[in-house]
Amino acid sequence: MKAIVFYESKHGNTEAIAEAIVRGMKDGGIEDVLLMKLKTADEEDFKDRQLWVVGSPTHWGSTGFRLKTLLVNALKYEGEGKKAAVFDTRYQDMNRGSADKLVRIMAKWNVPVITEPEHFTVQTIRGPLVEGEEKRAEEYGRKIAKAALSA
Ligand SMILES: Cc1cc2nc3c(=O)[nH]c(=O)nc-3n(C[C@H](O)[C@H](O)[C@H](O)COP(=O)(O)O)c2cc1C
Repeated sequence: MKAIVFYESKHGNTEAIAEAIVRGMKDGGIEDVLLMKLKTADEEDFKDRQLWVVGSPTHWGSTGFRLKTLLVNALKYEGEGKKAAVFDTRYQDMNRGSADKLVRIMAKWNVPVITEPEHFTVQTIRGPLVEGEEKRAEEYGRKIAKAALSA
């Protein structure tokens, strides 16, 4: 199985989480994982990758416009038959974030989200991450791999 972990990160915290998720996925048995940042990604990067893991920082309770646009274009042209997992970074005790929007986008394009969306907490707008979040992200990567490989 080939996977892509597609993310946005302004201050590096979501990037650290995405990298940890990749480590966990590889540990869980998915070896071909393309780590792709919004800035350098395009729709072609999603092609022939059966599992799409998508995450971003929470901005104004949701996902940034550019990530949404690229993701929807990728779903339109490459989304059929794919599986997904989603995550975000956000402040402590926020009950709304980017991952909620990502779940709705995947549902609209009939792409099943195979694990519970996961949220990772930053201490301030620029970080750092709350202690232990990278370990939790590795664990989440292993969980995604298990769900994807057993489905
Ligand atoms: C313009 C802006 C709006 C934000 N709005 C929210 C918000 O509504 N809820 C929240 O939990 N965090 C909010 N944050 C904080 C982000 O969650 C935090 O900056 C992000 O997780 C850091 O990730 P990054 O280092 O990958 O950019 C906001 C940050 C910015 C820059």
